[in-house]
Amino acid sequence: EQNATSIITSKEDKEAIEKAVGWLKNNEAIGIPTETVYGLAANALNADAVSKIFAAKNRPQDNPLIVHVSSIDMLKSILPDNHVPEVYLPVIRQHWPGPLTIILPASPKIPTSVTCGHPTVAVRFPAHPVARSLIEACGFPLAAPSANSSGKPSPTLASHVFHDLQGRIPLILDGGACDVGVESTVLDGLRNPPAILRPGGLTYEALKEIEGMDGLQVYRKHFVDKELEAAPTTPGMKYRHYSPEAMVILIDRKEQEDPSFDRKFDQAWKEQLEAIQASGVGVSKIGMLRTTQDGATAVWETISVTDRNLECVSLQMGRHGHPDEVARGMFKGLRELDGRAVDLIFVEGISEDREGMAVMNRLRKAASKIIEV
Ligand code: TXA
Ligand code: MG
Repeated sequence: EQNATSIITSKEDKEAIEKAVGWLKNNEAIGIPTETVYGLAANALNADAVSKIFAAKNRPQDNPLIVHVSSIDMLKSILPDNHVPEVYLPVIRQHWPGPLTIILPASPKIPTSVTCGHPTVAVRFPAHPVARSLIEACGFPLAAPSANSSGKPSPTLASHVFHDLQGRIPLILDGGACDVGVESTVLDGLRNPPAILRPGGLTYEALKEIEGMDGLQVYRKHFVDKELEAAPTTPGMKYRHYSPEAMVILIDRKEQEDPSFDRKFDQAWKEQLEAIQASGVGVSKIGMLRTTQDGATAVWETISVTDRNLECVSLQMGRHGHPDEVARGMFKGLRELDGRAVDLIFVEGISEDREGMAVMNRLRKAASKIIEV
């Protein structure tokens, strides 16, 4: 364990990048910004460096990592015979750099600790300028999972990484707030038909438009445990994930445009709360994570909702009907509510359109209980 973790701000400035490169060449793992979420990066070609990622975030040893490149030449350099499978050429042309990870044949150049012994390797070309300059300056690809402690919500600010990993890594590069807010979409084009293994920042709607992707499947949108036990497709999906300290109850909609949803939501959380209190669990502070109609995001209000001395903290993730805003605010909202030490979080479900598919995938996994109203 290291003593101190320093955070340095980088807007692609040379000195910050050089410091980061120094640690990476020394086979250390550091926090870096990407456009999706912060990553915990280390030299993907060095097993010793990669082992530090698993140690710092306490990641299960059988959950493989995404390898990040900064050019197509670097991509080719890690593939068998330097060959990019044809199926990926149109998606690469249209969506790289960006929030898309593709599954490729692994080669002996990639340590088995990255692939966890799978015959494939997941690769992404991030769009964030700091991530790109950093990989370029290193001259080697970076393995990087999300920079949270295993099981916690993914970090979308440098301060989130610090909260989870302080004292465990030497450096965090602060590149500001992540623009996308949820992780990349994991696409397996090697199977027929091609499949999304993890919904993410690049939408199903955008991907299925691409040449060769018309039969695109989405695997385990709802990630029912029984299915996962039968045949895990992407190892990460079998673990409990994205969970804040507080218990999360997801209140989903039966109908998307229901004018009485607000009333039903209020009724539902009060019923749930009463049931929990009746079971003898003490609750003094609750959090709400909602969408809003009015464009206001991340507005806090503290209101007293009952005469039972219960405090309620309410946070808006983004506007209803704007899943990109909700994606950007969701993990941040879960973490901010944890910071306010709430006992329970009631979060609103949104439509699975566009980025909503990734949002609902994460919320379902974070929730201990899901109800529909
Ligand atoms: O946006 C992102 O993808 C972020 C940023 C840092 O780039 N990274 C990220 O990494 O989300 P991580 O480790 O949190 O998620 C990687 C996912 C896991 O679900 C893992 O099981 C899956 O990708 N994965 C990795 N290699 C795989 C492979 N060969 N086959 C199938 N799934 C794989
Ligand atoms: Mg992760």
